[in-house]
Amino acid sequence: MVYTLGIDIGTSGTKTILMNQIGEVIASYTVEYPLYQPQNGYAEQNPSDWYHAVVDTVAAVVKNSGISKDEIKGIGLSGQMHGLVMLDENGEVIRPSIIWCDGRTAEQCVEITNLVGAEKLLSITANPAIAGFTAAKIMWVKKYEPQNYAKCKKILLPKDYIRYMLTGEFATEVSDASGMQLLDIKNRCWSDEVLEKLDIDKALLATVYESPEVTGKVTKAFAQATGINEGIIVVGGAGDNAAAAVGTGVVEDSKAFTTIGTSGVLYAHTSTMKLDQKGRVHTFCSAVPNEWHVMGVTQAAGLSLKWLRDTLCQEEIDYAEQEQVDPYVIMDQLAKKVPIGADKLIYLPYLMGERTPHLDTNARGVFFGLSAVHTKANFIRAVLEGVSYSLRDCKEVLAEMGIDANDMMICGGGAKSPLWRQMLADIYGVDVVVPASSEGAALGVAILAMVGIGQYKTVQQACSAIIKKDKVTNANKQSHDQYEPFYRLYRSLYPSLKQSYQQLNNI
Ligand code: XUL
Repeated sequence: MVYTLGIDIGTSGTKTILMNQIGEVIASYTVEYPLYQPQNGYAEQNPSDWYHAVVDTVAAVVKNSGISKDEIKGIGLSGQMHGLVMLDENGEVIRPSIIWCDGRTAEQCVEITNLVGAEKLLSITANPAIAGFTAAKIMWVKKYEPQNYAKCKKILLPKDYIRYMLTGEFATEVSDASGMQLLDIKNRCWSDEVLEKLDIDKALLATVYESPEVTGKVTKAFAQATGINEGIIVVGGAGDNAAAAVGTGVVEDSKAFTTIGTSGVLYAHTSTMKLDQKGRVHTFCSAVPNEWHVMGVTQAAGLSLKWLRDTLCQEEIDYAEQEQVDPYVIMDQLAKKVPIGADKLIYLPYLMGERTPHLDTNARGVFFGLSAVHTKANFIRAVLEGVSYSLRDCKEVLAEMGIDANDMMICGGGAKSPLWRQMLADIYGVDVVVPASSEGAALGVAILAMVGIGQYKTVQQACSAIIKKDKVTNANKQSHDQYEPFYRLYRSLYPSLKQSYQQLNNI
């Protein structure tokens, strides 16, 4: 048997899986780490936390699987997109990584738009200036921490920093590089024009590959730290969403998936490049060579529920521990007792600002319609519904672009909840399908590694052999109709609050 490892460096933790050539996941291990918020709207992580989690999870899956390490032939890397990792001349990390959901860079977005020109930026990077993307973070460090910028010799994305630690190579691949706002998305290479206008030296950036291509080999040091062989090949891999697309088989036109992790994403594959002129959804390269995807992003999806759990649900956490179940299972039981619409409580999930469709770093969360009749159960249901309305917003934008995301897979931690799956199916008005393997992005890059080692010819071929569908959640027409007036009201709330958000930020 031939095996590959898939490593996904997420926001809440790193998951590593070991997969065989027919797509069976033999072992899986996750290690969590903290997210730091030094100020309202800031979000940072320590690259060394990611690295230690990678070492521990790789060592654990190899040990737990009981297979011979000689059978492991390839590694694929996936990770949270957009995070800025800066290295000095010795390859040491200069400052904590400013990650995807950090919203400190509104000012830099204006600067980038002015320097490059709005139309040019959209035509080259396929997106307007977005606070979460890496370019704005680079410009922020340049302005506010010039001493750090002066020391910087390499700029890497989270998973590409891990690649450097695994192989010693400075490499990236098109899907994740798309989220830096420095890539020419049509031609799949760094844009000299954008780099010149932003005065960023191209030598700081990594070599760009397609996702299944070989980018380097495991070093002796990493092999010794984890118990795998030196020289195993490491393929490009993909940003977590493009990787989850492979892991759910969304690698052809008309296929789509929703993922609910820390963020929520609605993703659709497109074999040709498609753009929303208003920039409400992102257009990026896909992990399928020479193809693309569009995706809408809810900044705080699982994060909203985690925030609620950690601030209000200690009782449920304690009870869950006693029952030996996940606290989210207990929270779901409470939410299920509340009717559609959460007894007229509506939640706007803008804890970390919002991308689709508002592109507003100042937006913040709201519970609207709060009444003395409401209990904790209403809050939980309102959060689940609010996140689902936000994902419906993404679907509406895709529909305006002529992309019908009706062949819908679902993955990520949120997909484990039958209640949340039903809610999404009902609010979208389409059936949602869970893949047989729930490993998502980690599975996707283990598949890319199989293509990289030559076990399969193409990504599509590998997916059709490996990805199997499991449970289907059918959309219920009656529930859809009941959600509609709440969704319409939800949509009207942001425009009424836009100015107030700005005002709050200015205080
Ligand atoms: C996508 C995005 C998030 C992160 C989180 O643009 O910012 O989905 O990749 O993992």
